[in-house]
Amino acid sequence: ESRIHFHISEFNSPFSLTPFLAVHLTGTKYSCGEGGCGSCTVMVSRYNPKNKKIRHYPVTACLVPICSLYGAAVTTVEGVGSIKTRIHPVQERLAKCHGTQCGFCSPGMVMSIYTLLRNHPEPTPDQITKALGGNLCRCTGYRLIVESGKTFCEESTACQMKGSGKCCMDQEENCICILFCFVEICTKLYNEDEFQPFDPSQEPIFPPELIRMAEDPNKRRLTFQGKRTTWITSVTLSDLLELKVNFPQAPLVMGNTEVGGEEIFERLFPCHPCILLQLTLSFYSTILFSGVTIGAGYSLAQLNDALGSIVSEQPKEKTKTYRALLKHLRTLAGPQIRNMATLGGHVVSRPNYSDLNPILAAGNAIINLISKDGERQIALDSKFLERAPEANLKSEEIVLSVSIPHSTKWHFVSGMRLAQCQENAFAIVNAGMSVKFEDGTDTIKDLQMFYGSVGPTVVSASQTCKQLIGRQWDDQMLSDACRLVLDEIYIPPAAEGGMVEYRRTLIISLLFKFYLKVRRGLNKMDPQKFPDIPEKFMSALEDFPIETPQGIQMFQCVDPRQPPQDPVGHPVMHQSAIKHATGEAVYIDDMPPIAQELFLAPVTSTRAHAKIISIDVSEALALPGVVDVITAEDVPGDNNPQEEILYAQNEVICVGQIICTVAADTHAHAKEAAKQVKITYEDIEPRIITIEQALEHNSFLTAERKIEQGNVEQAFKHVDQIIEGEVHVEGQEHFYMETQTILAIPKEEDKEMVLHLGMQYPTHVQDFVATALNVPRSRIACHMRRAGGAFGGKASKPALLGAITAVAANKTGRPIRFILERGDDMLITAGRHPLLGKYKIGFMNNGVIKSADVEYYVNGGCTPDESELVVDIIVLKSENTYYIPNFRCRGRACKTNLPSNTAFRGFGFPQSTVVVEAYITAVASQCNLSPEEIREINMYKRISKTAYKDMFNPEPLRRCWKECLEKSSFYARKQAAEEFNKKNYWKKKGLSVIPMKFTVGIPYTYLNQAAALVHIYLDGSVLVIHGGCEFGQGLYTKMVQVASRELNIPSSYIHPYETSTVTVPNAVFTAASMGTDTNGKAVQNACQILMARLQPIIRKNPKGKWEDWVNHWWGSAFISLLISLLRGYQTNMDWEKEEGHAFPYYLYGVSCSEVEVDCLTGAHKLLRTDIFIDAAFSINPALDIGQVEGGFIQGMGLYTTEELKYSPEGVLYSRGTNDYKIPAVAEIPEEFYVTFVRSQNPIAIYSSKGLGEASMFLGSSVFFAIQDAVTAARRERGLTTSFTLNSPATPELIRMNCMDQFTEMVRVVRRGSCCNLLYMNFQVLGVSLVTMTNLTGQVHLFQ
Ligand SMILES: Cc1cc2nc3c(=O)[nH]c(=O)nc-3n(C[C@H](O)[C@H](O)[C@H](O)COP(=O)(O)OP(=O)(O)OC[C@H]3O[C@@H](n4cnc5c(N)ncnc54)[C@H](O)[C@@H]3O)c2cc1C
Ligand code: FES
Ligand code: FES
Repeated sequence: ESRIHFHISEFNSPFSLTPFLAVHLTGTKYSCGEGGCGSCTVMVSRYNPKNKKIRHYPVTACLVPICSLYGAAVTTVEGVGSIKTRIHPVQERLAKCHGTQCGFCSPGMVMSIYTLLRNHPEPTPDQITKALGGNLCRCTGYRLIVESGKTFCEESTACQMKGSGKCCMDQEENCICILFCFVEICTKLYNEDEFQPFDPSQEPIFPPELIRMAEDPNKRRLTFQGKRTTWITSVTLSDLLELKVNFPQAPLVMGNTEVGGEEIFERLFPCHPCILLQLTLSFYSTILFSGVTIGAGYSLAQLNDALGSIVSEQPKEKTKTYRALLKHLRTLAGPQIRNMATLGGHVVSRPNYSDLNPILAAGNAIINLISKDGERQIALDSKFLERAPEANLKSEEIVLSVSIPHSTKWHFVSGMRLAQCQENAFAIVNAGMSVKFEDGTDTIKDLQMFYGSVGPTVVSASQTCKQLIGRQWDDQMLSDACRLVLDEIYIPPAAEGGMVEYRRTLIISLLFKFYLKVRRGLNKMDPQKFPDIPEKFMSALEDFPIETPQGIQMFQCVDPRQPPQDPVGHPVMHQSAIKHATGEAVYIDDMPPIAQELFLAPVTSTRAHAKIISIDVSEALALPGVVDVITAEDVPGDNNPQEEILYAQNEVICVGQIICTVAADTHAHAKEAAKQVKITYEDIEPRIITIEQALEHNSFLTAERKIEQGNVEQAFKHVDQIIEGEVHVEGQEHFYMETQTILAIPKEEDKEMVLHLGMQYPTHVQDFVATALNVPRSRIACHMRRAGGAFGGKASKPALLGAITAVAANKTGRPIRFILERGDDMLITAGRHPLLGKYKIGFMNNGVIKSADVEYYVNGGCTPDESELVVDIIVLKSENTYYIPNFRCRGRACKTNLPSNTAFRGFGFPQSTVVVEAYITAVASQCNLSPEEIREINMYKRISKTAYKDMFNPEPLRRCWKECLEKSSFYARKQAAEEFNKKNYWKKKGLSVIPMKFTVGIPYTYLNQAAALVHIYLDGSVLVIHGGCEFGQGLYTKMVQVASRELNIPSSYIHPYETSTVTVPNAVFTAASMGTDTNGKAVQNACQILMARLQPIIRKNPKGKWEDWVNHWWGSAFISLLISLLRGYQTNMDWEKEEGHAFPYYLYGVSCSEVEVDCLTGAHKLLRTDIFIDAAFSINPALDIGQVEGGFIQGMGLYTTEELKYSPEGVLYSRGTNDYKIPAVAEIPEEFYVTFVRSQNPIAIYSSKGLGEASMFLGSSVFFAIQDAVTAARRERGLTTSFTLNSPATPELIRMNCMDQFTEMVRVVRRGSCCNLLYMNFQVLGVSLVTMTNLTGQVHLFQ
């Protein structure tokens, strides 16, 4: 029996499906709570009695009101398959194709692919990519997830390039591709022959009782009576209308995607004794002679299907509005939201960012309303969209349907949009436009322009349109239209969302796109009469397509002489992969409730720097379920361990600092009470937010670090040129899918406390908790099995949060569960350090850099955290791959009133090295050479010493560089890009190839050690424990591989056990790419010692089996456990002398990326990436490739889409998936090639190299490819090619750096010049130089 029966009265607050599922089933994960990440995806199936069909569709459980599921079957990941019963092929293939790392997103991924297969058992690759558009993964980089889905496609092959025309057939084991003719190179990460076949007929049937219910002719109205709210479900339209009369203020919930989760619901409808639900009616849909009427209850996915079939049936000229809608329906949110959201809900809620309403309005859509009194129609026009009171619905009315007229021959309709990401991101600006011409002419009869995201509502440029009636559709009209529309649509400087100049530029850039589209359309209709747009402008017409990613991964083959059972070097699946895919992997929040357990909610500071005048907790304490409020007063030990602060006392030093926590019986009660804690403040000056402000106030967390070689000042005197510049690299949110979660259980005796938490540094947590509770560390036990991603964010922060939780558990004497919600996690735990790099570079005209003086400042936030280490690493690694004989680098962490920034994959290297590559690019521009030439000229070529005098051999770097240039056909593609750029004015291609010298580890020997505990039991089974933490990187899997080789037994004998301070004490953090290096050696050491002890027994019985020997061992009284403490790598750094052997070894990589940029919008598309990375010998190529690809995509996010926004007062605005965009599947390279380059690394286990962090920086090849494309645009426009591109290269920065007549027009208008002084000659037809003049007749368009 796979079904769960429940009674609605089980819930105090029966709102969303997620908390309900969490009680019964833990597979469905909760990560963002706003429909933006897909972790909580489940499949809903409904039977339609009219067409007798069952509709299966994906939804995000966090937004599904539980009462809306009456009559629906919900399938969660548990219902798809489990280890206990049968693993479903979707789960098996996701696991075996290595599409899971930390596994937190995996159930959601499974559900998205599974639902697709229920509807399309043999999907196309494109359908797979579309199906995954609403699911975020922070670990894998998506390609392997898509690949697992592609195995269900008819044309699926092991070689990803097959079907693209670039690959030959499989040859024996490996797929050897024409592009890369290597020998002894493997490309196959999994074996398709191992997959169980997919048989769609074996899926569970839809419950017959639900069919009977749906077909019941006597269906009755349903009422769900909650404590505060009544949900009423109508079953007929007349019943609904009756309800609307009786409860005029009651909201009608359809998809609930606009209304959203419970909290928002309560905010929007504070007095909602009643909510109406529409379940069974989709309302109707008809196609009439003059248009189509779509039922308001149609989901956007159904709308998409309906429009798709109309478009395929009707002549093209009639379907222009439908095609415009279809284009936006492809990228609006993800498939889950599109399947939940309804057309009616979308139209009625009139969000200012609406993608559909501007097009519907431009297409003259009509809203059909119905109430008990009858039907009426209103226009979906500017009055309606701008919320004119007379256009509002009456309280008893509902939207029945929306009628969209066919377009006509001389009528053009288009939709355009630009968002931070291609898919699943709200538009920064969107537009719907239409123009009707007098028949056979280009004389404007009617013009409509609607813009979204430029004000509180969608707005119409109606005055502009009116003034242009009767004009010809020509360049002069365009020029006037731009001027008028900028006058009409005003975005105030302090507008929500900022980016005012950019958004104003988009207003006219999108208009220009429409202008071109219409010109092209007119030309197609009558080429004689209407000249076409220039060839050079053609590419401006199309948006970037979303393609299915493909690629090849190449790695070393295992020596054929290696024993078959030895797994080292093989692409072994992640040890928990199947459990991830079935949802059976247990994360902290999945641990069953404990008797008496309480939940914790934080109260955080709303001021950046202030004195706490009072904390009033009386109202909070009076609320139901609240047990206690915990403050600094309750900390029995030290509230300030290592200069960090657990609970703020007397003073707050950042917004987001925890002042107190509320403990209550449920999470909802704790949250509610936390809102009622009243804190009064008195601001303290200064309030320091930015690096610049910190420099002004001399506010630092650390002393300056410096490395210097040669004589920098002297060398500046003998160079041909000197450049100076500044580059900003902004911070980054870790966005691990599992937010920080802690379970603290106080023990009855001896002040013991047990903590379960996702972490990277158990010893640190133990230390802080013991210090806070004032007990010896031996009383504190910290455990973890896995974390849903970490990326550095769980290195130091869990210690603070763990101590805060432990103090609450200590005070209340009850177990405490502390789960940070996404917004709180982003606010409280901070992330990567923003960096300001200042450089002065002296070089010769031939490109040789002679002297460099570089300063780095990072924004450390309000406490030290890991800032010192970050600065150390920045300074030590700051030369990247370049030898500069006279080199000085200084670094310092600024103290500001922001939450304390912390460790993040790469520890500052990904930020600082962008500055290095930026000055390399700047030198290239000055020397009229390409950046590649400057890189080549200055790159280390032979065994050398770093600036801190450490010897290294750059030979693998040279190989990576050479192979990357060759195998990616860099020069040929660069040439092709140049050709493309010559032919395309508004789209530009750019390429970059970026080298990297990376060092693993930390410059402190004590952090390079590890310990392991290996038990061999008498039945031969083996337990492996070590101090390393598993958060997706596959550490446990690799440790099993190591133990398997060393003990010479199959992996199946070996079981990896959780990490705990009880089993392995004083372990160092799992970070800096060292997890496998140190723990692997410890496990190896332990196993080798055990094997040595076993040798006498083996010698006596050489033909015996493992079990015989081990059993004999018992007889011989050998103990079978061992703790091995490995001293680890010896590193040292003498900062006084500025020299040392700071890191154990070097690894190298080169990445080449090619992008295409839309100069009119700032959007970019990553076409191809090639990575060549020096992996030495990979212990597990599947895991390592996963790290490389995942790190690259995370890096790409850092440098392109991930933008944290703060107010000048230090309030973080970006607190969820809506405001912070990590890369999604649509962002990854269309073609992605990863090659492991062989080298030697004898000091590391099995000559491997730690690949966890290095590829993060390789993501900057996308950034520099964008810069290359923008440079091409600027060159063509006669602008200087020396310009600074700060990171991230968002669409805003890209667009505003591709300066042209539009950016200049916005600037001129902003500068206050009268618009009527402005004349723009767009000269579209002549493609001649764009000019702008004022009345003095001077031309000054470009600086
Ligand atoms: C993660 C996410 C991403 C999104 N991305 C985008 C995007 O990129 N672009 C975009 O345009 N939109 C986006 N949206 C918004 C989405 O399009 C709307 O939320 C959706 O269309 C609203 O439909 P609904 O059925 O869910 O409305 P509901 O939330 O159910 O209702 C919204 C309002 O309309 C009322 N209502 C609903 N139906 C009727 C009716 N028939 N008659 C009268 N009143 C009615 C309700 O009472 C309520 O007040 C996104 C939403 C989410 C959650
Ligand atoms: S948790 Fe539901 S979509 Fe993110
Ligand atoms: S595996 Fe996807 S988030 Fe970790």
